[in-house]
Order: sequence, then C-alpha cells, then structure tokens
Amino acid sequence: MRQPIIAGNWKMYKNVNEAIELVNNIKREVYDVANVGIVVCPTFTNLSDVGQMLVENNVALGAQNCYWEKEGAFTGEVSVDMLKSVGCKYVIIGHSERRKYFGETDETVNMRIKAAIESEIVPILCVGETLEEREASKTIEIVETQIKGALKGFSEKDIVSLVIAYEPVWAIGTGLTATPDQAQEIHAAIRKLIAELYSDVLASSMRIIYGGSAKPENIEELMREEDIDGGLIGGASLKPESFIDMIKKTSKLYEGTKD
Ligand code: 13P
Repeated sequence: MRQPIIAGNWKMYKNVNEAIELVNNIKREVYDVANVGIVVCPTFTNLSDVGQMLVENNVALGAQNCYWEKEGAFTGEVSVDMLKSVGCKYVIIGHSERRKYFGETDETVNMRIKAAIESEIVPILCVGETLEEREASKTIEIVETQIKGALKGFSEKDIVSLVIAYEPVWAIGTGLTATPDQAQEIHAAIRKLIAELYSDVLASSMRIIYGGSAKPENIEELMREEDIDGGLIGGASLKPESFIDMIKKTSKLYEGTKD
C-alpha cells in the first residue's frame, strides 16, 4: 500500500512569526497521525525557524524550489545542500507558478531533480495542463511531455522515492477543482507512463498526489480514487483547521477501506 502524502505549499505567504504559529498549530493536532506523510513547505526565509519546530516530528519540512549547483556565484539562489542543512526532506520542483512566472522549463526541472536526488531530498515534481490545453484535449500529451522531460536520464533507482503532483493549472487558486473522475483519469495515465518508462513495480509504488483547490470539502472524494495518493495543498494549507481536517480525513480513509 502506498502511504498517502498531504503537503502544504505555503507559497509566498506568512512572515516568520506567522509561519511558526501555523506549524505549531498543525503539529499539536496531528502528532498521533502515523499513516499519512505530512509535509509543510514554507518560504526559504522561514525554513530554518519552522525546521527547528519539526526536529524529530512526524511533520516533515519541504522547500518550494532549489537550484541545481552546489554553491557558487548564483545570487538569489539556494542549493539543495543548504535546504538539507535546515532540515528539508522534500522539495517542490516545477510548480506551474515557477513555469509561468520564472521561466522554469522541463530542462531546468530535470536539473533541479538531479540535484535533489544526489542530495537525497525527495523531489515533488509538479505537472499539469492549462485550460486551453485541456480544452484542446491535450492534457495527457502535455503531462507526458513534462514527465518525460523532467525524468530524462534517471534510472528507476534514482526516482524510487520521487513524488509526482498533478496540478491542473486551471484549478490552482481558482476554486475550480478537477472532479475526482478528471483527476483519476490523469493520475492513471501518469502511472501507466511510469510503468512504460520504468516498470510496473515502480509505477505501483510511486505516490501521485493531486493539487488544485483541494479543501476539506473535497479531499475525501478525491482520495477515494484508486490512483490519487494525497494532495499538494495551497490556500487550504494556510489555515490550520482546514489543513488538519484534510490530514485527519485522509488518515481515517486509509484506516478503513482504501488500500
Ligand atoms: P490551491 O490549493 O490554492 O489551489 O493551490 C494548489 C497549489 O498550487 C499547490 O501547489
């Protein structure tokens, strides 16, 4: 059985005091949840302080991006080893906001993933189509191109712990969530692609999580789908009660029937 992941992408929200308050609220309520991987991804400036709150905790720390070089004259960039030194276990790579606003391409995504793998930080690779691409029936083609580009040159062993987040761009921050059927269709296609590129074993163990206006009201119906293994949560992860609720609902579902 794949362990589900509920990850909060805090994007460019929360100053350091607010971030500490948020993480303390979360960890107090979910300390006994053992069957869900819980991750919070604050901004770079808050990683160290939030990380200190999470030492030996069941809530893991993640970053929202990383650079591929180890160190050097790269003003404004942060290396994977730097992330590791403040306790990061995960890093989000290739988020659609990075692709749209900051020139991220499948090639740079590939380089960032390579750096993360080499430093043993789990990459959360984000893929997803725009509304125009969906309306042109290009969703699967787009997602496949993104995944093939992102994973170019990696062996099965390299990506054994990698997580894929399917985040339809039209559902991010819009209140429009993909229906469970829409999401399941793409998650299943991604799993099939991983089986073709690598193996059935890897495909059946890889966590494929959903992002895009996921919230307490829809997390259960999404999580009931066979190929949806968790969520990458934006807006709803900024409110402790919503994020905690989503973690607890997921935990309950996995205690029950979903396997
Ligand atoms: P929302 O949950 O706010 O739609 O954001 C999703 C997202 O981009 C997570 O990475």
